[in-house]
Amino acid sequence: MNTHNGGPGTEGEALTDLFSRTISYLRLSLTDRCNLRCMYCVTEEEKNGCLGKLAHDELLTYEELLRVVRVAVEMGISKLRLTGGEPLVRRDIMSFIRRLADIGPLDDIRITTNGVLLERFAAGLVEAGVTKVNISLDSLRRERFADITGVDCFDRVWRGIETALAAGFSPVKINMVVMRGINDDELEDFAGLSRRMPLQVRFIEFMPIGTSSRWNRDTYMATDEIMARIGRLGELVPLQRGRADGPARVYRLAGDSAGSLGFISPISHHFCDRCNRLRLTSEGMLRSCLLHDEETDLRSVLRSGCTDQDIRETLLTAIRNKPRGHQMEERLRERGGDCHGRMSRIGG
Ligand code: 5AD
Ligand code: SF4
Repeated sequence: MNTHNGGPGTEGEALTDLFSRTISYLRLSLTDRCNLRCMYCVTEEEKNGCLGKLAHDELLTYEELLRVVRVAVEMGISKLRLTGGEPLVRRDIMSFIRRLADIGPLDDIRITTNGVLLERFAAGLVEAGVTKVNISLDSLRRERFADITGVDCFDRVWRGIETALAAGFSPVKINMVVMRGINDDELEDFAGLSRRMPLQVRFIEFMPIGTSSRWNRDTYMATDEIMARIGRLGELVPLQRGRADGPARVYRLAGDSAGSLGFISPISHHFCDRCNRLRLTSEGMLRSCLLHDEETDLRSVLRSGCTDQDIRETLLTAIRNKPRGHQMEERLRERGGDCHGRMSRIGG
């Protein structure tokens, strides 16, 4: 179905946008709540209170989410990622995931988690069909982990990572947001992890997102510099980009390595021309770009007795509004940048 000439539509199997990008990937933020308080995500005031502002009825219900996913899959979405906040804190998450997996035909369901609850959930997730996990981890040092996340639970997260490997997730990816002066002295330790363990360790450029972002020109570190530092440990051998790699450029350290390294450069080498994503925030707003604040209100549509066709049209509207790309690097050079959205409701 093509809505009009040159417009976005579902041509055959593929859902394409105005710039001929195939949209196949939907990221669902299941809650804005989280059991951590990462320094770049929460404000000082929130630090002592409860992260997550949405009232229960502002969140999309599981029924609503399942309906949206069913329609999106019919339109050509084949990959789902569950995010938050922290997705594993939402009540009855496992029964939701099992129902999600029944929708089919989905290539895969992935999850991004801070790992705090993985020890408890890993085996069940794999059993339910979630086989790819990204775990956020910004420090390997217990005290620093507590400083960055506001909670002293590094050991729990580490056990979560070990449990995920044992449960058979493949791949298990570790996401490190690199912040100069905060954790960049651990680049070598993180890279070393990929030698010892079958993990894909990914270094992500710090983005100016979130109301409290500690982002500034000094804390930002570009991938080129990160790679130069890690390159001193050994040659970086490029690996063919796999289906599950997304925007990461993937390498391994020469010599014996159980895992690999990924570099994600949303600022310095943005990947907008290959972006296949659509996001649904925890309160039901469709967001076609992480770095553009424009959103399409799907919740109001869902709560006004809509048909599946209405949902389809709302998804197409969001895709039609997907911008060609962001000019974050240029904007930062000009004005020092501004912060966008809230990571805990958009879900990264
Ligand atoms: N810049 C880069 N990555 C971020 N994340 C959260 N905030 C930022 C930011 N400002 C990461 C989290 C998680 C993923 C969802 O996004 O660490 O791995
Ligand atoms: Fe939670 Fe993620 Fe925000 Fe950290 S960055 S407080 S793990 S939502």
